[in-house]
Amino acid sequence: MFELVCCSKASPSLTMDDIRAILDTANQFNDAHDITGCLLYYNNEFVQLLEGDKTEVLDLYENIKRDKRHSYVLLLGKGEKEKRLFDNWNMAFQDLNNESNAKSEMKEFTRNFEALSELSKTPTHVTELFFEVSKLILSYGLEAE
Ligand SMILES: Cc1cc2nc3c(=O)[nH]c(=O)nc-3n(C[C@H](O)[C@H](O)[C@H](O)COP(=O)(O)O)c2cc1C
Repeated sequence: MFELVCCSKASPSLTMDDIRAILDTANQFNDAHDITGCLLYYNNEFVQLLEGDKTEVLDLYENIKRDKRHSYVLLLGKGEKEKRLFDNWNMAFQDLNNESNAKSEMKEFTRNFEALSELSKTPTHVTELFFEVSKLILSYGLEAE
């Protein structure tokens, strides 16, 4: 099993429809190619963990890098791991960017996310990095209270 973690900045013109389109593509493609993982979107930042066959994951990453809907794509880490952490493809926090969303919802999400990171008993450095960067991005929102 191979994993890759990257982050990027959403294009300033990104809309919720763009997010939905990314999700639709990812759901179909990742499912068909046995790729699992998580994409977190918050405060115009993306953090993504992909897991699957090495060639499939690296090829997908090449495609993602070229995507005009984001920029400053940074590869945070990649490597082999024993087993998957995610059992399907997940998109986290997609609509909590909306101002009208209650802070309590966000806190609950953050708690759930932390619980998930604890589930990963022996995380690789790359998986750990994904959770650390995700928590950092989420913490901006909680501080803004
Ligand atoms: C932040 C971000 C994450 C993405 N993640 C995936 C993904 O996990 N799977 C996927 O198939 N496409 C994903 N995409 C979309 C791809 O960049 C690209 O549109 C898709 O691979 C289709 O490529 P094509 O238009 O060259 O066929 C993502 C796009 C962005 C901006």
